[in-house]
Amino acid sequence: MEIVILPNSQEIGRLGGGVFADLVTAKPDAVLGLATGSSPLAIYDNLVARHQAGEVSFAQARAFTLDEYVGLPADHPERYRSVIEKDFTGRVDFAPDSVQGPNGLAEDLRAAGAEYDAAIAAAGGVDLQILGIGTDGHIGFNEPGSSLASRTRIKTLTHQTRLDNARFFDNDLDAVPVHCLTQGLGTIMEARHILLVATGQGKAEAVHHLVEGAVSAMWPGTILQHHPHVTVLLDEAAASRLQLAAYYRQTYASKPAWQGL
Ligand code: GLP
Repeated sequence: MEIVILPNSQEIGRLGGGVFADLVTAKPDAVLGLATGSSPLAIYDNLVARHQAGEVSFAQARAFTLDEYVGLPADHPERYRSVIEKDFTGRVDFAPDSVQGPNGLAEDLRAAGAEYDAAIAAAGGVDLQILGIGTDGHIGFNEPGSSLASRTRIKTLTHQTRLDNARFFDNDLDAVPVHCLTQGLGTIMEARHILLVATGQGKAEAVHHLVEGAVSAMWPGTILQHHPHVTVLLDEAAASRLQLAAYYRQTYASKPAWQGL
């Protein structure tokens, strides 16, 4: 796990955007793993700017989103299919039907989960997965207690996650769905490179566990300690509880240029 502590979201966007841009330049038909939430927005904005400057194209790329609420109507603005289009994919040049997400409106949700994992595998697997992290340590919507080997499936959101996300539903907790379909921890672990972004004091405890805690289903993101290529981009506040912060800073500052991220 490589920890990079940056001064602000703009720098996170620049560095993270560079990782995506380098990938789609080297491999135009790359398979991207996209996440909703506020954490990836700086990276998406950076990529839109690069696209508008003619530096990068997603015309041949494909993308899979992490998760979806169960039961939100197709035209609901907070459906993650709509959110990712508004935040990123609709602002660049993805081809029609090249962006997929779990089907939270499927009649058979169990089958929808299995079909989603099969679609990712058929596309050749995810080359680069962007992740945020919940205040309770969830990645995707894999809440505490999730199987560390889980596949795409239904999950029940915790009260804390529904409170965290109520801001997207006019602060009406009752409007936040109770269930979701999410890529499992085992599914996420198959991505070849994982880029996790966290900003703000509210994420400091989850980041501490993610990087320095014991691997445990109680802090689901800790499974990433078993992944060979994870890059964690943090601002100062999110990094504020890291015990080895000085070492991570020194390591990044003295990193050989040929290593890349
Ligand atoms: C949400 C999403 C996650 C996201 C996380 C953090 O509930 N399901 O994919 O990473 O919670 O969200 P944010 O980045 O807005 O803090």
